[in-house]
Amino acid sequence: MQLRGRSAIVTGAAQGIGAAVARAFVREGACVAIADLDQARAQALASALCNDGAEAIGIGCDVARRDQVAAMVAAANERFGHVDILVNNAGITRPAMLHKMSESQWDEVTAVHLKGSFNCLQAVVPGMMERHRGRIINVTSAAGVLGTIGQLNYSAAKAGIVGMTLSAARELARYGITVNAIAPGAATPMTETIRTDPRFRDRYLDRIPLGRWAEPEEIAPVFVFFASDAAGYVTGQVLAADGGMTMR
Ligand SMILES: NC(=O)c1ccc[n+]([C@@H]2O[C@H](COP(=O)([O-])OP(=O)(O)OC[C@H]3O[C@@H](n4cnc5c(N)ncnc54)[C@H](O)[C@@H]3O)[C@@H](O)[C@H]2O)c1
Repeated sequence: MQLRGRSAIVTGAAQGIGAAVARAFVREGACVAIADLDQARAQALASALCNDGAEAIGIGCDVARRDQVAAMVAAANERFGHVDILVNNAGITRPAMLHKMSESQWDEVTAVHLKGSFNCLQAVVPGMMERHRGRIINVTSAAGVLGTIGQLNYSAAKAGIVGMTLSAARELARYGITVNAIAPGAATPMTETIRTDPRFRDRYLDRIPLGRWAEPEEIAPVFVFFASDAAGYVTGQVLAADGGMTMR
């Protein structure tokens, strides 16, 4: 029970990696707010977790919208009293080659990843500063380090999240708040096309030294570590849980 008595917000937690993180946090004793664009799915997961004896709420929220983020964080604070852990996990892709990428494809991706992470950070940090305790976990990607063909918007946003992580870690260290980032790789709806489409499947698999895609449940313990007391002296780090894709 590494997170007993802690309360967490996990964005984009209705499915994929976020849902696995929410389940892992609950198993470790945390109360969890599942914040997702897909309100019905977020609430269904929260109900399932509550039926198993956990304390969880599902909240519909577009992280790119500051008003919705403010309301989501207020709801989590009202239910749990405070927020100890924020996982900025919500994400989308809008792939296109650079010469064909529309302004809206650029805007949508940067709005969710960059502005969304910023919105959630700004909404939870004042409470953490007051209590002199907090854990922020951002989600970046191998794409932000290596680049990906057809994903200039996503790669730029994920690289930006690394910069955001480092700046926030430096600013917030004096308040006892740690800020780290995880670059995952997992079999989720987001990666379905590159895992199954014969045009991409082998090319992507060849880039993973461990030779397989992880299940989201294999990635979740890394989030638990950063959220736990065990990581109290770890801040400003980017940890890749990607089967070795980005090893140097
Ligand atoms: N799966 C991978 O291999 C992989 C690799 C690198 C990085 N990532 C990152 O991990 C995170 C989770 O990815 P995943 O694979 O689980 O994706 P996913 O598509 O399976 O799940 C993403 C979730 O985010 C939600 N979401 C999308 N836009 C949102 C918004 N504006 N506000 C709130 N919620 C929103 C979706 O409804 C969905 O539930 C993302 O940030 C993604 O970029 C994933």
